[in-house]
Amino acid sequence: MRSTIVMTGASRGIGRVAAEHILRRSPDVQLLVVARESAVAQMSGELGTGVSYVAADLGSLASVRTAAAEIRERLDRGDLPPLRGFVGNAGVQYTNALTEGPEGFEATFTVNVLANHLFVRLLQDRFAAPAQITITVSDTHFGDFKHNLGMVPGPLWQSPETLARPGAFPEPDTAAAGLTAYSTSKLAAIHLVHEYARRLPEGVDAVAYNPAFVPGTGLARDSGPVARFAMRYVMPLLTLTPFATSRSAAGRYLADVVLGTTKAPSGSYVDRGAVVRSSEESYDPRREHELWEAVERFTEAHAT
Ligand SMILES: NC(=O)c1ccc[n+]([C@@H]2O[C@H](COP(=O)([O-])OP(=O)(O)OC[C@H]3O[C@@H](n4cnc5c(N)ncnc54)[C@H](OP(=O)(O)O)[C@@H]3O)[C@@H](O)[C@H]2O)c1
Repeated sequence: MRSTIVMTGASRGIGRVAAEHILRRSPDVQLLVVARESAVAQMSGELGTGVSYVAADLGSLASVRTAAAEIRERLDRGDLPPLRGFVGNAGVQYTNALTEGPEGFEATFTVNVLANHLFVRLLQDRFAAPAQITITVSDTHFGDFKHNLGMVPGPLWQSPETLARPGAFPEPDTAAAGLTAYSTSKLAAIHLVHEYARRLPEGVDAVAYNPAFVPGTGLARDSGPVARFAMRYVMPLLTLTPFATSRSAAGRYLADVVLGTTKAPSGSYVDRGAVVRSSEESYDPRREHELWEAVERFTEAHAT
């Protein structure tokens, strides 16, 4: 079945491997990669046929809106096959909780939560069932030793108005605050997947994908030299244990979810290749409703 899959975070790391799998395994898929202008220039030609690009900085809601408008126009003109997938794989991690985007929202929350939400809402009426939204989350949302060996502090939920703004966490200029912003943003993303599963039209599913700890990607690029060294040369040894996943396996697992090789019901959480429960905290319909209302407000000015 000919189809378009829109994907963010395909320029490197887990997403790059997943994009290569999708293209190799599904020749009928037109992969529409949303990436920074600099990454588009570099990727064009590298990924071969079956790919087209839209430039966007996901740290800016205005940029996401422009990209989504371009995708809608290309679909409406018939330049692309029917839209059957959105993969929100892009993600960031900062060494503070103070980085502010152009619209005044904290940068981790903007890329990991608001950008995906805006894409989902602006593409919602263009999806052709059966379609699936896949959002890359993280098992740091559990906040326990078992899931991240204490490397990342667990989420610290607060009102969405606080979470979305710089300085939401104690000692906001520290790496611990930046990592707390990260795990909390991933919990928020899981909450929204639950809300999408309730709200999206029949036949448009939403799934959260967790790759587990994947050393050696660009995610820790904002860290200091010691952490970057450990991430690059020491942590990869952990892929010999069940605790960590290699980049190639994480990308393949993501492609399996996107292509439906791993069957996952709407609203579910896929840990690598298996549907499992996310944290108990992540199932909270009241909080999810409140978060939905808030992200609708935050993105309102860019949602048409
Ligand atoms: N690595 C892990 O241990 C781990 C564990 C659990 C979950 N995850 C999640 O997996 C996903 C992929 O991460 P990764 O580890 O593969 O990290 P990565 O190598 O840093 O890849 C991140 C991707 O997101 C893109 N991106 C980030 N900010 C962007 C922006 N403002 N505009 C456009 N694109 C932007 C990057 O594009 P550029 O190349 O242009 O920067 C890149 O393609 C993320 O959602 C991450 O949170 C990672």
